[in-house]
Amino acid sequence: MQIIHTINELNTWRKQQQIAFVPTMGNLHAGHLALVKAAKEHAEHVVVSIFVNPLQFGQGEDYSSYPRTLQEDADKLIECGVDVLFAPDVKELYPHTNQDYCVEPPALQHELCGRFRPGHFRGVATVVLKLFNIVRPDFACFGKKDYQQLAIIQGMVADLNVPVTIIPVDTGRDIDGLALSSRNGYLSPQERVIAPQLYQMLCWVRDELIAGRRDFASLQTDAMMKLNQQGWQTDYIEIRDAKTLEKANENHHDIVILAASRLSNTRLIDNLEVHI
Ligand code: PAJ
Repeated sequence: MQIIHTINELNTWRKQQQIAFVPTMGNLHAGHLALVKAAKEHAEHVVVSIFVNPLQFGQGEDYSSYPRTLQEDADKLIECGVDVLFAPDVKELYPHTNQDYCVEPPALQHELCGRFRPGHFRGVATVVLKLFNIVRPDFACFGKKDYQQLAIIQGMVADLNVPVTIIPVDTGRDIDGLALSSRNGYLSPQERVIAPQLYQMLCWVRDELIAGRRDFASLQTDAMMKLNQQGWQTDYIEIRDAKTLEKANENHHDIVILAASRLSNTRLIDNLEVHI
């Protein structure tokens, strides 16, 4: 008999076949497939889930119109050599009308995107923990595209001792800089042309920081105003500590600039890390 004193050792003992997991809501693009590639680098077996999670959509959001393209998605995943596609329906994951037990993330859930999407991160954390418990992966890949989501999942895994290693994956972009997203499909051709302005604005803030600017509050306001002048309706542009996502000050050096902004009805998010 082995006597084991640490959780790490217990995990190592438990592992037989290693699984890397990529949770998604489908309508897969190259950004998702980069997660699959990272998953394959970490484990012999890869499981991808496709589930449009009603719990993370607010009233008036795009739950019913969210693109559902299961057959095309399955074809892409076969090509990538994925072992299992897990595509449950809503009744399978939520057999009761109410999900009585939920994961309640800390205060960060009410900031940044949480200010504009109340309950969103509770819905995300809850479904991700359910999926972790169903798939029981050793590794799970999440995109930095959804930086706040990644931070909340990392916090949940650490605080609740969820036995999974989170692998962050860099944001996949189109050649003009626009971060790949299923929601880019909502953009009209004219909006698609100006959509890279969001990433360009993040790059401008990064360049101002690198040039030595430290008046973070007015830098954020300047960036928001510039974007709004170009026809955007901006929810926020914020300069935060990359690790904790607390508001950055001059003592922070690993920074992330996060933004959410709307082109008519389409809400896009993006972010950029910078070391200053
Ligand atoms: P979804 O938006 O489908 O994204 C699934 C995963 O792909 C997330 O980890 C997201 O960060 C990542 N991703 C999306 N676009 C990306 C890009 N351009 N580059 C790199 N990674 C990208 O995020 C969700 O679904 C859901 O909230 C989910 C975690 C599945 C829970 O329902």
